[in-house]
Amino acid sequence: MPVLKTDHPSAPMHIPDIIIAIDGYSSTGKSSFAKRIAREAGFLYLDSGALYRGITLFAIENGMIDSNNTVDEKRLADALPGLDLHFEAGKDGSLTYMGERCIEKEIRSLAVSRKVSPVSAVPCVRGYVDRKLRELGSRKRVVIDGRDIGTTVFPDAELKIFMTADPEVRAMRRMKEMIGKGEDVKFEDVLENVRERDYIDSHRKVSPLAKAPDAVVLDNSHMTPDDQMVWIRDIVSRLPGASD
Ligand code: DC
Repeated sequence: MPVLKTDHPSAPMHIPDIIIAIDGYSSTGKSSFAKRIAREAGFLYLDSGALYRGITLFAIENGMIDSNNTVDEKRLADALPGLDLHFEAGKDGSLTYMGERCIEKEIRSLAVSRKVSPVSAVPCVRGYVDRKLRELGSRKRVVIDGRDIGTTVFPDAELKIFMTADPEVRAMRRMKEMIGKGEDVKFEDVLENVRERDYIDSHRKVSPLAKAPDAVVLDNSHMTPDDQMVWIRDIVSRLPGASD
């Protein structure tokens, strides 16, 4: 991947009033990339996965999902209109809230991670998240990451990015992250899990992970975070209305 020598990769970025949709495989660094774009461009970052995780926490705490991962769809559908999930600005970026309670830490727990797949497959859950994202994104100047943002939530987004990387590279990144958290893992097991999640994400019935036909592919197997910023700066400089 040739790296273009343009601006310093951390200088403020000038992007017209658009929606940037970032989708892609797990462990491709979507959220770090999206957060950095938001910071440097003065955009709002929306983490769609955090909303799925917030609903999952709500379902767990209210006994709406059992040990076999069966979701009580009726009760959840009745409760969702009254559920206040939103983002508030924190010291290190945006934080997820349920009403007045900050749930940022809990939604990243293993208990939530284990249940988020069945909950995010429920149609009323997807409807709730889609509506919330559309409401928040209606004023533009947002960067949103997820699995179906460019295909389902914002099919008219002006810039769509589809992130991918070699499974081995993603497994290595994930393994380092897990070891950093004190977990004892084998590379082969992590690689198997990465492949399995790729399969589940792209084969589920509701809103499967797919590249939108007009998305730009970013394969970051051999790129650093700074290389990615140089890449995006080149892309946005060619958008209609770009000033740099
Ligand atoms: O990005 P994440 O790991 O925080 O996402 C949590 C879960 O939510 C993940 O299992 C897939 C699901 N998800 C989804 O189905 N659609 C999205 N747009 C974002 C996340």
